[in-house]
Amino acid sequence: MTTKHLLDRDRVRELFDLRAAYNAKMGGGYEEDPNPVWHDLRSRAAVHPGVVHELTGYAGPAFFQGLPHPDRPHFSAFSYEACSSAFRDNETFASSLVPVDLENGNLSALNSMLSMGGQQHRRYRALVQPSFMPKNAGWWIRNWIEECVTLLIDSFVDEGRAELNVDFCAAIPVLTIASSFGVSVEKALDIREAMNRPHEIVSILEPIVAARRESPQDDLISVLVAAEIVNEDGVKQRLSDAEIYSFSVLLLTAGSGTTWKQMGIVLTALLERPEVLAAVRDDRGLLNPAIEEAFRWTPTDPMFSRFVSRDVEFAGTHLPEGSVLHLCLGAANRDPARWENPDVFDIDRPLQPALTFGGGVHTCLGMHVARAEIRTGINALLDRLPNLRLDPDADAPRFIGMYERGATEIPVIFG
Ligand code: HEM
Repeated sequence: MTTKHLLDRDRVRELFDLRAAYNAKMGGGYEEDPNPVWHDLRSRAAVHPGVVHELTGYAGPAFFQGLPHPDRPHFSAFSYEACSSAFRDNETFASSLVPVDLENGNLSALNSMLSMGGQQHRRYRALVQPSFMPKNAGWWIRNWIEECVTLLIDSFVDEGRAELNVDFCAAIPVLTIASSFGVSVEKALDIREAMNRPHEIVSILEPIVAARRESPQDDLISVLVAAEIVNEDGVKQRLSDAEIYSFSVLLLTAGSGTTWKQMGIVLTALLERPEVLAAVRDDRGLLNPAIEEAFRWTPTDPMFSRFVSRDVEFAGTHLPEGSVLHLCLGAANRDPARWENPDVFDIDRPLQPALTFGGGVHTCLGMHVARAEIRTGINALLDRLPNLRLDPDADAPRFIGMYERGATEIPVIFG
């Protein structure tokens, strides 16, 4: 990895602009705590007619191009039980209404494995999954995460202060994923610049895919071009170029903003509680429970949606075929039926799986990579920045955003 642009903090700041990250047209204007309303909604019924942001009382725009499928009936689920069982029944609660066509369709997260069902999803996921298993977390950390974290801290360690949301959390996920494709750091930042223009990303990847088909290296594209499964007819299957491009664009879309904002949420939760931060600094065994608790307590993406594929009685409500069910996993993660004092950030609570990474067949493929990035990043901050604390002279971080929640700036001082 070369370091030139990584050390150019102004370019990083320009590329990871907080105002753009909380796009007002996509619910970025929401500045409240939704949890009191979600508790009230859940206490009245597990499922309500309507869409999460409207039911929460947010009248601003929450989807870039308006509510998808406005002509269909919409429902929202708020209990853990309802959200978890819908995630786990991908036939009744389907990810998409139309089949995914990677060879001819758009390059977008909507036309990707996220929207596949049945056999198509099983085949695709089996091909791409191996590098994302927990046993491969070390591969990601050694090859890309550690170096990226070190370079970013190098860029501010001598200054005694930093704004961790943009100067640190934002860049790690994109640089990790882009570097895993085998691109240089300069190109990795170009990829960030091109994220809304997937065809530009493909033009960066094309020569790499071709080169790795000829001669593999120790990177993700090499693993993807070599991946092979034998289907039920005994036929060997590999990923086509179009499938690799679609997957690469999905990784960037699904793995960048999420991990950025979620890392900021974990850091904010710790910095706001100096005694918990000190305990974690002294006993790094507490870092994993702290990360998992922050995932439960404030998931960055508190809502995912499904299409109802048949008439069904669900959690006390009739859902007609063709309706849309929004799963408010942010509310599910604070369901008092599952967690005692659910609003309290408590790293000592017994660990029970939450829904931050979804559930069922589409459970987040990158969750162990996200965990590795957050763990490596925070461990390095604690190792290298003595007496790390919120800057008392700056505005304290707040969590904002409706469907992409995260911290405002995280100004810290150290030394
Ligand atoms: C803390 C950060 C992250 C959060 C909160 C998160 C959350 C999620 C959720 C909830 C889903 C399920 C969506 C659904 O069921 O409709 C999902 C799917 C997915 N995520 Fe993540 N994600 C994170 C980080 C990542 C990273 C780092 C990567 C890649 C390196 C990634 C790649 C994916 C992929 C490929 C899928 C689709 C899986 C499938 O359809 O089978 N995610 N993510």
